Amino acid sequence: MSDPGEPWWRTAVLYQIYPRSFADSDADGQGDIGGIIAHLDHLQWLGVDGIWLSPITVSPNADWGYDVADFCAVQPDLGTMAEFDLLVARAGERGIRVLLDLVPNHTSDQHPWFVDSRSSRTSPRRDWYVWADPRADGAPPNNWVSSFGGPAWTLDPATGQYYLHNHLAEQPDLNWWNDEVRTCFDTILAFWLDRGVAGFRIDVCNIIVKDAQLRDNPPATEEDDFEAQLFGQRPVYNGNRPEVHDVLRRWRRVTGRYRPPRVLIGETPVKVDALAAYYGNGDDELHLAFNFPFITAPFQADALRGVVEDTERMLPPGAWPAWTGSNHDMSRFATRWADGDGRRVRAALLMLLCLRGTPVLYQGDEIGLGDWPVAPDDLRDPVGVRYFPAYAGRDAMRTPMPWRRGPGGGFTDPGTRPWLPLGDTAGCNVDDQRSDPGSVLHWARDLLALRRRTPDLQTGAYRSVAAPDGVWAWQRGSRFLVVLNLGDHEAVLDSVEGDIRIGTDRGRDGQSLSGPVSLREWEGLVIETR
Ligand code: NOJ
Repeated sequence: MSDPGEPWWRTAVLYQIYPRSFADSDADGQGDIGGIIAHLDHLQWLGVDGIWLSPITVSPNADWGYDVADFCAVQPDLGTMAEFDLLVARAGERGIRVLLDLVPNHTSDQHPWFVDSRSSRTSPRRDWYVWADPRADGAPPNNWVSSFGGPAWTLDPATGQYYLHNHLAEQPDLNWWNDEVRTCFDTILAFWLDRGVAGFRIDVCNIIVKDAQLRDNPPATEEDDFEAQLFGQRPVYNGNRPEVHDVLRRWRRVTGRYRPPRVLIGETPVKVDALAAYYGNGDDELHLAFNFPFITAPFQADALRGVVEDTERMLPPGAWPAWTGSNHDMSRFATRWADGDGRRVRAALLMLLCLRGTPVLYQGDEIGLGDWPVAPDDLRDPVGVRYFPAYAGRDAMRTPMPWRRGPGGGFTDPGTRPWLPLGDTAGCNVDDQRSDPGSVLHWARDLLALRRRTPDLQTGAYRSVAAPDGVWAWQRGSRFLVVLNLGDHEAVLDSVEGDIRIGTDRGRDGQSLSGPVSLREWEGLVIETR
């Protein structure tokens, strides 16, 4: 039973939907809002409490929705505002809340604000974006590079200035020093919150405020992480500025006016100590912040335990972690952590659902869906198109949800070509797993159900417990012990007194333990101790 004193988002399991790849209700090969409505039964059956939708707002799709041309209207090929309202209502009837993706760092270059901004140096919205003069030799104003590679500046020949874009040139960065921009976003938040949206996942929320003086980033050194070395510079001035916290506090005040409580989840690709800062004092900035050191850690006990312990130690009192293994930008965990091995997929789900914090699953995680490499001619992600073959981009993690085997995979009409290839629908699909009680899908559902009825697993404190090499063991609350053998050898845990509530080997469910416990490779147990 959930503790009624806890805000819903602490005890919730959230689920990310990439709408274009979830389910297609009008046979055009692209998923849409109608498709999400049609599959709410699946989400309810699975037991999720909230869905976060990657952008559904108007976009020319240079970056598939992350280039917004109207923040308060629905992209026509994904549906209508009426369908969105219907989704919120139908999901609500099933106890599922709907969260949207907010993209405040940049807009599309087609957004009327930017069209106006670039029209002249004196346009009323010139200062809504980051414009700067060329250097004396005509070069960009500073050395910043885009996260998608190449210079972060593009010259606008008509007005003779450069504009800043931390992603594609089609995604000009807004100027968050401008008060009108801040006020305008307050209105955008309220627009959706008033429609019943339960909160937002905030795109690259760590970089929205830039150095006011546009200083050069310092060069990377050998001590810096891979990304800094790849770009040749430390991202000191083009993001992670202290002033971003003013904006987050402002949004926390906006959401704080709503009941039931709304939630702000930040995309915060930073180290754990910096991550902690995005929670403010624990009660005045983000409610949840995605933990990238966890997502990118190898699937090894020491590495993952280290990130979790750091997170537990560094987050301010009152803050609540979020745990996720896959999203539309990162390789899916069934591939990255589990290499397609069902035992490891089960272990990863057990980990995500038994840590202290809010788990956020990505569509397909519940069936152990892995990445599906997309042929060069079918690439859709601009980053893959630009860098193939050095980097194939993010399409492999965005391929459509396989609902059943066969042409169309239940995602779209059998005769329709999906916007991205479907992958091996016979090898992995929802329908087949639903009729197999031993499937990953049933495992995921049973874990969600156990979590829902076990307050210790929802809100109990985390404490690491001594375990042999390769094994990660932790206590939750007063009575629960979680043990995971993340190694390919059998391991034995010292004396345990208790009952197995669920095990990756379902034959052990209910087993009573008294004394040493052996674990096969990749085996995990949730034990209620005595
Ligand atoms: C992060 C999003 O998750 C990613 O898909 C997008 O390309 C960038 N931000 C830019 O919005």
